Amino acid sequence: MTTRKIVILGNNTLRKVSKPVVKFDDELGVLLDEMKATMIEKKGVGISAVQVGVLRRAIVIDLGKDEFLEIINPEIVKTKGKVKDSEGCLSIPGFYCDVPRPRYVKISAFDRHGKPFEFEAEDYIARCVCHEIDHLNGVLFVDYTDEGKEYKKRMGVE
Ligand code: NI
Repeated sequence: MTTRKIVILGNNTLRKVSKPVVKFDDELGVLLDEMKATMIEKKGVGISAVQVGVLRRAIVIDLGKDEFLEIINPEIVKTKGKVKDSEGCLSIPGFYCDVPRPRYVKISAFDRHGKPFEFEAEDYIARCVCHEIDHLNGVLFVDYTDEGKEYKKRMGVE
């Protein structure tokens, strides 16, 4: 399977807002397949299209046990609670810090064929979903905490 190059912190692409997917075609299928392969190769648990340089609202998440969730054009419907836990990102290699996230999230989205669905997640998967949706809006986990802000300063990036 073909993999793609990961866009790393400091590259302005990561700060752009991704556009909705409008064509649920073969090209989208290939993008999702290659995002998944890239995520597996890099040992990530989630990946957004912007991280491979494609500014479209598409996400793949590893649910464990060889199950993967593809999320297109997600909207957050509901969140509950707040929990702080460690987070990292394929675009920010080697840096981790605790980030507050909702404990529960419900989203509505589309699958690769354009079929709408809802998805509920708690704890670790809820964290992944929120982290990846942030990517679609140009937001990174290092934006949330003092540690993250210090890291950006140290690296001389925004
Ligand atoms: Ni990330």
